[in-house]
Amino acid sequence: MKKIIFTLPEQEALGKNLALVSGCDLGKIELRSFPDGETYLRVLSDCSGCEAIILASLNHPNEKTVTLLLLASTLKDLGAKKVRLVAPYLPYLRQDKRFHPGESISAKSYAQIISRFFNDLATIDPHLHRLHDLSEVYTIPARTLHAAPLVWQWIKNNVENPLLIGPDEESRQWVEAAAISQNFPCLVLQKDRRGDRDVSITLPEVTQYINHTPVLVDDIISTAHTMIETVQALGMAGMNKTVCIGIHAIFAGNAYDDLLKAGVQTIITSNTIPHASNAIDVTSLVKDVL
Ligand code: R5P
Repeated sequence: MKKIIFTLPEQEALGKNLALVSGCDLGKIELRSFPDGETYLRVLSDCSGCEAIILASLNHPNEKTVTLLLLASTLKDLGAKKVRLVAPYLPYLRQDKRFHPGESISAKSYAQIISRFFNDLATIDPHLHRLHDLSEVYTIPARTLHAAPLVWQWIKNNVENPLLIGPDEESRQWVEAAAISQNFPCLVLQKDRRGDRDVSITLPEVTQYINHTPVLVDDIISTAHTMIETVQALGMAGMNKTVCIGIHAIFAGNAYDDLLKAGVQTIITSNTIPHASNAIDVTSLVKDVL
């Protein structure tokens, strides 16, 4: 069956790389907005009988999801046998529980919507906290890919004497796994989040690592407050400048500039979301799914 990759705007570069390494065709669509804000969408490639893969990183999900669903539904309408979603960044996973009466468990609702339009889904390092697996909310096969090996390779190639730091308990599992497999020393911090931009972290004793380069690794950099607090605490403790690595470069508002101003050595992200800080290419990871 012919495989065609369709990309939503911003994902063209990764789409081209994937088409090159996987031998899939690259589909063409025309997209624009009507004056009232509705989306005009036209599929320009013949997709009848094909397996269509939509590549779409779903940061800014409220803006992107309607277009995504229109495209999925149009491809099916035009005869695609299968419509698959590759979402390097998958949103709506934080609200995975009703914390207060009446709240939407948006992780579940969003998963139900996506599951209706796609045959399967693949994503990279989804933010699973209380959920252990995407199958708890998605009813289609949902595959999780891990960027960790690419991150550790980047650190090996670029940082001398790294001290790996996970900012919170959620990061413990993979920071510790890397510490064991790569022989990096590591620390897991305690994080207290009181609000979207109100975060504090507790730094343990670090004097024994004074000659190391702190490498802070997190799945998402959103407001960057987690990283800013940590970078500042490490600076106060007399540590070398921190290398900050995030898998998903959300960078809400001025987050990127704010983090740069906090006195980091460098900020590195993967290209799950296109951003100036992208230095880790996930093409090889996603290729396996195709
Ligand atoms: C939360 O548990 C995540 O792993 C990240 O630490 C969090 O999303 C970072 O958010 P922010 O950049 O807004 O501090």
